[in-house]
Amino acid sequence: LMTYQSLKLEVINKKAVVIINRPDKLNALNSVVMSELEHCFNELKKNDDVFVIILTGSGDKAFVAGADISELSKLNMIAANEYAEKGQVVLNLIENMNKPVIAAINGFALGGGCELALSCHIRLASENAKLGQPEVNLGLIPGYGGTQRLTRLINSGRAMEMILTGDIIDACEAFRLGLVNRVYPFADLLIKANELADKIASKSQYAVKQAIKAVNICDEISGSEGLKFEASLFSLCCGTDDFKEGTSAFLEKRKPSFRNK
Ligand code: COA
Repeated sequence: LMTYQSLKLEVINKKAVVIINRPDKLNALNSVVMSELEHCFNELKKNDDVFVIILTGSGDKAFVAGADISELSKLNMIAANEYAEKGQVVLNLIENMNKPVIAAINGFALGGGCELALSCHIRLASENAKLGQPEVNLGLIPGYGGTQRLTRLINSGRAMEMILTGDIIDACEAFRLGLVNRVYPFADLLIKANELADKIASKSQYAVKQAIKAVNICDEISGSEGLKFEASLFSLCCGTDDFKEGTSAFLEKRKPSFRNK
């Protein structure tokens, strides 16, 4: 496994845990973190030993407290466009991974940190988590997809409110809004994330991969095109050993043993 300057990476039992590791700066996203995330997720994409990825922040204070404001402060208009687009490439890579990515939000997820969590497939939070899009306080708007992904995920009026006020909400409110799927005591967050990852890792990974593609296309194409796409991926699944195994196991009243092809 690669070692990184600002990430920690562990792979155990079909799971990768990616930890953003700049605790003294509340894991703020600087250019090193962003390029290491890109490298790391590209490697994990190709790694057949990894079925599910957990993304979290180091320490008990922050998931990611945003883009690094000392880097942001130096941007001019031209550099800013490139900055946002480069970041969006990394978050798109995560959103379109061929395996599920679970965000374990262990504290502040602000600005780019909230956007990073939004690019993951499932969001779990600890009770101390705090989420928000405070860019407006810096004379900015979200640039890593927040205006789009937040507005699609939660009630659009509440998304607009968060983006216009910069208000920071707690885990409980984030749960009520559907911004996070579950909230756990801090000590349980990674345990629960691992349990969820194990559960998904026990399924047919071929089917899991098609499911991500089918759900993700929802934002890109019309309803009728989406249904056609779903039918084509459903059909691909029917051609797999896993489909034969899953259906036979049910009929034979035993547990399936998937080979992920
Ligand atoms: N970029 C760069 N550095 C950051 C950062 C960010 N987004 N967020 C926190 N840090 C740094 C602080 O500057 C401080 O560094 P220092 O010790 O060298 O001074 C360190 O992380 C600890 O943060 P601090 O502000 O002292 O912690 P706190 O508990 O008092 O406050 C926050 C926590 C999250 C409320 C506060 O750090 C904050 O508002 N951060 C910025 C959030 C933001 O606007 N993010 C969106 C950016 S688009």
